[in-house]
Amino acid sequence: MSSAQEKISLGRSDLRISRLGIGTWAWGDRLFWGYGRGGYTDSDLEDAFQVSQAAGINFFDTAEVYGRGRSERLLGQFMRASGRPVIVATKFFPFPWRWRGASLLRALRASLSRLGLDRVDLYQMHWPYPPVPIESWMAGLVDAVGAGLVRVVGVSNYSSEQTRRAQAALARHGVPLISNQVHYSLLHRRPERNGLLDVCRELDVTLIAYSPLGMGLLTGKYTPENPPHALRGRRFKRDYLAQIQPLTALLRQMGQAHDGKTPAQVALNWVICKGAIPIPGAKNARQAQENVGALGWRLTEQEVAVLDRVSEGLQR
Ligand SMILES: NC(=O)c1ccc[n+]([C@@H]2O[C@H](COP(=O)([O-])OP(=O)(O)OC[C@H]3O[C@@H](n4cnc5c(N)ncnc54)[C@H](OP(=O)(O)O)[C@@H]3O)[C@@H](O)[C@H]2O)c1
Repeated sequence: MSSAQEKISLGRSDLRISRLGIGTWAWGDRLFWGYGRGGYTDSDLEDAFQVSQAAGINFFDTAEVYGRGRSERLLGQFMRASGRPVIVATKFFPFPWRWRGASLLRALRASLSRLGLDRVDLYQMHWPYPPVPIESWMAGLVDAVGAGLVRVVGVSNYSSEQTRRAQAALARHGVPLISNQVHYSLLHRRPERNGLLDVCRELDVTLIAYSPLGMGLLTGKYTPENPPHALRGRRFKRDYLAQIQPLTALLRQMGQAHDGKTPAQVALNWVICKGAIPIPGAKNARQAQENVGALGWRLTEQEVAVLDRVSEGLQR
């Protein structure tokens, strides 16, 4: 059983993180999440930050592209206001016009400036997009570590084969690959099927699970009659929202057997049981508080197996 106070090593590093982090894509993103359209304010986001931190969550994930830098800026602002350190992960986006190592250092310096930090804890390659070979970007990450701008490095959206390549390229410079951040939830179990979860375990690379609540669907609040708003709403057809209802009903029922845990808490606990670190997005204090409640208890093996079976036909 893990509470938010309990910390574990991030990959092979000496960074100690809570078993659950907080994702900040929605902190400033208008198009997909509807930031600035009245649903949640900067003050709600600061509350989410504070509640998480007060509960013992110390790992926050952002990216230079989230809200075109606004997510990093808000996170920096909230960190300074709280005065207590957290472990910050951000990401470099390999836009097609970026094809030299120098562009990575430039982007990193801009991220540091928005965050108000001298050094970021975990710096991740956001996507493995061509044409720049993985080895070249890894050399850029090695330079970033050498320049003292980054403590440890990771990747995101890398396949098993790409993860091995990245790990080998970094190892040649004596730098360990610490993490791979990928889409992983009850509605997206590809990392189990394509062997990535096993590869990460073998290489001692932490698998960070993004969209662990299925972008909100696994909280049970979205139905065909009540679909999500903004661009996210277009992503999920009504048929699909109808199909997932038995799963969210099961999450609710299982939660009842664990002192009234909510569907979101059960869905996040399932990710933890699989050995990954979920980083649910939280837009306000209530959501943050609820998500912390995924820690401190554990689903049984039998319950995990039932959830595996029921989620089988719902994969996207
Ligand atoms: N590396 C990558 O390529 C990549 C891609 C995607 C995400 N990520 C990272 O992963 C993080 C999390 O993924 P995500 O934000 O896509 O999806 P998610 O964590 O699956 O869902 C987050 C959304 O669910 C709703 N929610 C969260 N907690 C809730 C609760 N307790 N009760 C009710 N509703 C709740 C909120 O939206 P509503 O209230 O509007 O429903 C929230 O914005 C991101 O913030 C980002 O840091 C990385």
